[in-house]
Amino acid sequence: MSSDELIKRILKEVGKMPPLPDVLTKVMQMTKDPDVSASQMNKVISMDQALTANILKLCNSAYYGLPRVISSVTQAVMYLGFQTVRNLVMTCTMQDVYAGQMQGYGYPEGGLWKHSVSVAIASQILCKKIRPGLNDTAFTAGLLHDLGKTILNKHVGGRFQEVAAVMQQKNAMMHEAEAEVFGFDHAIIGAKIADQWNFPPELVQAIGFHHFPDRAKGRPLLAAIVSMGDMIAISLGTGSNLQVNQKLEPSAYTREALGSCIDRMDSLLEEIDKALKDASLFINPS
Ligand SMILES: [Fe+2]
Ligand SMILES: [Fe+2]
Repeated sequence: MSSDELIKRILKEVGKMPPLPDVLTKVMQMTKDPDVSASQMNKVISMDQALTANILKLCNSAYYGLPRVISSVTQAVMYLGFQTVRNLVMTCTMQDVYAGQMQGYGYPEGGLWKHSVSVAIASQILCKKIRPGLNDTAFTAGLLHDLGKTILNKHVGGRFQEVAAVMQQKNAMMHEAEAEVFGFDHAIIGAKIADQWNFPPELVQAIGFHHFPDRAKGRPLLAAIVSMGDMIAISLGTGSNLQVNQKLEPSAYTREALGSCIDRMDSLLEEIDKALKDASLFINPS
């Protein structure tokens, strides 16, 4: 099958993906409205009892280190803010999308989810140092950056021996090997999914260009942060088996965008590593 035929087939599969859960769409809309109250958000989220229970569990995890126990969504909004609660709804609803085996990519069971949460947290911590106002978007972009892998694993997973062979023979990165074998990579497919789900353009760009941040339109900073968050998460052991010996080198643009963070990388790695340990409930929800 030619690259053109293959991408057409994959895009058709993207078109068949289920829409975002209603509650997430509503919560995303609400966080854009400055007049929305905590109790209005509580009303929408509390309709789903399992989701509410999951959110409260995460609010009370060591990651947030809150001084008191949070027992309602209203309290969660008051202590953590609308954007964080939106990210928690996103985290809880996305687990299902990442569920299942990712054998093609060489992740152990739950490995892509662990990697994605780790990139979300690493990106958020990096972003707080550079552009704090953007850190909740950085979390979401990190969480979703490898979304395209779920579709490729499902529909062309059988061809990943070819991808692995290219990676080995040419010392290529995973996205480079995908591009050679399929004619496109997981980042482009992820951006298509995000676009179909009506995510804001800066998120679509950050997902689509997390391996080439300087090519992202409008907000390349976000793509650079996710690119660095991705490398950090892989270096902390959340990559796939195919990425074990890869040499991770931030691009010139990423270095420039991250400024002094690059020089403080050792202490940042420590901070991120600790945050990931505190966030173990995000990674292993049950
Ligand atoms: Fe990627
Ligand atoms: Fe990644």
